[in-house]
Amino acid sequence: MKSLSKKFREGGEVIGLVPTMGYFHEGHLSLMRKARGECERVVVSLFVNPLQFGPQEDYHLYPRDEDRDAKLAEKEGVDILFIPSVSEMYPEGYATFVEVKRLTEGLCGRFRPGHFQGVTTVVLKLFNIVKPHKVYFGMKDYQQLKVIERMTRDLDLDIEIIPCPTIREADGLAMSSRNSYLSTEERKAATVIYRSLLEAKETYRKGETKAKVLKEIVGGILRGEPLVRRIDYVEIVHPETLEPLEEVGEEGAILAVALYIGKARLIDNILLREEV
Ligand code: PAF
Repeated sequence: MKSLSKKFREGGEVIGLVPTMGYFHEGHLSLMRKARGECERVVVSLFVNPLQFGPQEDYHLYPRDEDRDAKLAEKEGVDILFIPSVSEMYPEGYATFVEVKRLTEGLCGRFRPGHFQGVTTVVLKLFNIVKPHKVYFGMKDYQQLKVIERMTRDLDLDIEIIPCPTIREADGLAMSSRNSYLSTEERKAATVIYRSLLEAKETYRKGETKAKVLKEIVGGILRGEPLVRRIDYVEIVHPETLEPLEEVGEEGAILAVALYIGKARLIDNILLREEV
């Protein structure tokens, strides 16, 4: 991968990278399409990164289907599907980790200790291996996007981070590889997530700016769904600092949720901001 990237760069080609953990869905494919439209070379990395899973989390359960993924990537015109092994990425004696402070303390960071350190470590390694000019991330993982933007700025990486919109199923559920854990009943129940976010957004549009009120709308709707077995958080945060807000101000806010339905930990978010 390193020698190919070197060759591409020497040839003056713009390299776009889509980092993934595989089991592709429309969300991944939309990132590949965007990269294909903007870059001469598109690299998709597929690596289920053990470092970003906690000991009680779903690393071993995480869905994998490399053959199917390879076909889908090929159909999108991806030049290289880069699938490193765990021992190549973290060989014996591996001891270096990247940590972004503050932005990783709230939201998912509070419930998944070590998760973002695992993400930033692997993403920086992928940046160094693939040497991309542009990297594409979905906004469903909003905190991840902000953490990586911060790392890229703080470490003076010469890389453009491109945020891409969340892709949803027809009934609103944000696409995620983890949706495959859901039974038919659970899958139906999961529509409650986006429904609750839209309801809060509608209330905000009508003039309500108090975070407490908006969060209570989401919490109330989620608690009304018996298959939601645990809510990690319903938070309203500043779109850049990710600090919790009491009031949605001029800069707007991100309303974000994380919860469990069955085995799946699902996250979603929506932007609350006056449309200009
Ligand atoms: O969003 C993901 O799929 C992963 O967190 C990423 C960015 C590929 C790092 O492992």
